[in-house]
Amino acid sequence: MKLTALISASAFAALMSALPAQAEVTIDANCNVNKSVDDISYREAHDVYLCLEKKMFEGYNTGPKKWVNPNHVGQFRTWQAASTLPANPGVHSERFLFTYVNPVGAAAYTQFAEGVKMPVGTVIAKESFSINSKGKSKPGPVFFMEKVAAGTSPKTGDWFYTMVAPTGKPQAVNVFKACHECHSGFEDSDFLGYPDEEVRRR
Ligand code: HEC
Repeated sequence: MKLTALISASAFAALMSALPAQAEVTIDANCNVNKSVDDISYREAHDVYLCLEKKMFEGYNTGPKKWVNPNHVGQFRTWQAASTLPANPGVHSERFLFTYVNPVGAAAYTQFAEGVKMPVGTVIAKESFSINSKGKSKPGPVFFMEKVAAGTSPKTGDWFYTMVAPTGKPQAVNVFKACHECHSGFEDSDFLGYPDEEVRRR
């Protein structure tokens, strides 16, 4: 009897030391998480997204959309997800991104290739939310790129860029300076930056 008890006790101790000492992840009613952005995995960030997504979508669709196509804002969640999980590319970035592409552009976009030309009518939506070092989460803007007919906007590669705040308010920005200048770095892929390689959904 004594011997068995001893063996199982030491087996138990060995098992415990083999397990990583990791606190369980919990997400509270306000979608805050008990982990810093520095320690969170994409999968855990996805759980935060699942908590936030309804509130985000309702926010984006609140109020008049003015120059932003309201159908894009209302429908993007029904489009093809181009990401498997939200990702925060860049060093110490608190902003997680999740990308959708409409049926016109889905096949071309999800090749994540260079040398592509997106068909006219392609619309890509990129949702964002942030998680800070204390695990506090916050909805971010949704960004859109729409491919328009050749020659409509040569200065921006015939892409229309728009942005809607989490409150639903369209954000007036100088799209050349605020959007296209950076995207022009991706000229070989029709100005598309594509999601982090780890989360591309083909
Ligand atoms: C500092 C550089 C930079 C600026 C400024 C920028 N973007 Fe991007 N954008 C990127 C990168 C990098 C990606 C790919 C990121 C990812 O999904 O991981 C991207 C992706 C996107 C996507 C998804 C399609 C794609 O390229 O794969 C959309 C839509 C988008 N951006 C819209 C906008 C809009 C609208 C603005 C201006 C309000 C903007 N971006 C400003 C760098 C930038």
